[in-house]
Amino acid sequence: MLTEEIKREIETEIEVCPTLRCACIEALQIVQRHHGWVSDEGLKNVAEFLGMTVEELDSIATFYNRIYRKPVGRHIILVCDSVSCWIMGFEHIRDYLIQCLGIELGETTLDGRFTLLPIQCLGVCDQAPAMMIDDELYGDLDLGKIDRILENHK
Ligand code: FES
Repeated sequence: MLTEEIKREIETEIEVCPTLRCACIEALQIVQRHHGWVSDEGLKNVAEFLGMTVEELDSIATFYNRIYRKPVGRHIILVCDSVSCWIMGFEHIRDYLIQCLGIELGETTLDGRFTLLPIQCLGVCDQAPAMMIDDELYGDLDLGKIDRILENHK
């Protein structure tokens, strides 16, 4: 699971961290970048590599909602459900995404194209309602804009 390339990348992170443990999120992100998600085996390998217990690392991994512990789609849609987005129509946006994709929050489309997840404030409250796909932010959402955004993610 931890290829030589992954180990080298983790070691590079470790060099700029005062302790091995402080590199653990970056290490999990590296594994995720290579494999798309972090399996139990991947988590165990990272824990061993960093000298942590699996339980310790798992508790940190589950705290960070952008470490995926089960397989995800090619594109991750994070739809903001915090207060500004609620006020500006989150429920409408969420329901439309659910309808368009044919999945519920937390699920992945059958074709493996999208995973739909809720997330707390994306930091663009002035553009609420907002969502993020992969690493790109989209604000001032309306249904037509969602159609265009989804169309651009094959
Ligand atoms: S509340 Fe949605 S971006 Fe801040």
